[in-house]
Amino acid sequence: MCAHTKSFCVGNFEKMNLFDLKEKVMLITGGCGVLGNGIARYLLQNEATVILLHYKEKPLQESLADLKKISGNVDGFVCNVVEEKTMELVCDKIIQKYGKIDVLINAAGGNKPGATVGPDQSVFDVDIEQFKQVIDLNLFGSIIPTLIFGKAMALTKSGTIINVSSMAADRAITRVMGYSTSKAAIDNFTKWMSVELAQKYGDGMRVNAIAPGFFIGNQNRALLTNKDGSYTDRGNTIIQNTPMKRFGEADELNGAIHYLCSEASKFVTGIVIPIDGGFSAYSGV
Ligand SMILES: NC(=O)c1ccc[n+]([C@@H]2O[C@H](COP(=O)([O-])OP(=O)(O)OC[C@H]3O[C@@H](n4cnc5c(N)ncnc54)[C@H](O)[C@@H]3O)[C@@H](O)[C@H]2O)c1
Repeated sequence: MCAHTKSFCVGNFEKMNLFDLKEKVMLITGGCGVLGNGIARYLLQNEATVILLHYKEKPLQESLADLKKISGNVDGFVCNVVEEKTMELVCDKIIQKYGKIDVLINAAGGNKPGATVGPDQSVFDVDIEQFKQVIDLNLFGSIIPTLIFGKAMALTKSGTIINVSSMAADRAITRVMGYSTSKAAIDNFTKWMSVELAQKYGDGMRVNAIAPGFFIGNQNRALLTNKDGSYTDRGNTIIQNTPMKRFGEADELNGAIHYLCSEASKFVTGIVIPIDGGFSAYSGV
């Protein structure tokens, strides 16, 4: 057995694969959604064990049947990301069955019409109740799983959490006030938790986020595309402000997710990685 760490021995001894995901148990909330499902597919192709968490039985079973065509290492549990009690029960079941949780990806999220400012409205027309529901889903829907599954990870001082932020976190993107507020809070929560967990539980616990730019999904399809597939004015404005001049494809999140899940990023915590075709770098001029 070599006395040095593996990294000193590269070339002479074992070949290291910093990106190895084999035997990692990975949970994905929102794993039946457009982005979460794409991530689940990729992780299964890379030999991880993937567990989907979804709040409705039927879509969960449909997603699982589909993903089983890629790998048998997929499982799923019904639970709502804003319901603490069910999530605790699910956490216990996962620990009993798999013995550990390596990664949690908080990809459940969404918006509500009443929390957005319609084309003929102003901010004063926003429905406060729906605003609260959006904050609940996007913010508490990541906080609650993080606290519950993070506590299980803390017992072994090992685990990685990945949140999903947005371009709307960092700057004002018109109309989506509730969504923007919740995603801004996700960025701070990511940093706060990364500090807390590293300080109290050591360097085996990491919390990071990805911030996707604009990907056409269920939440924004109607805002960005017309029925005939052409872009709306808003869709065109986004393309003009994206130096790569296109929307993202779901599989373009996989590289950053793989990095953040794996040993390749073992000294990385508290960051938010934009995956946005240059949108956040561009001044528009
Ligand atoms: N699509 C984009 O352009 C984009 C850009 C930036 C960030 N995001 C974020 O990425 C994440 C995934 O987005 P998406 O485009 O795949 O959306 P999506 O609507 O396809 O997926 C979200 C999933 O979350 C699930 N969900 C909703 N409420 C839930 C609850 N209470 N409990 C459990 N699951 C629940 C939905 O059923 C859905 O399957 C979201 O956080 C979204 O805000 C998306």
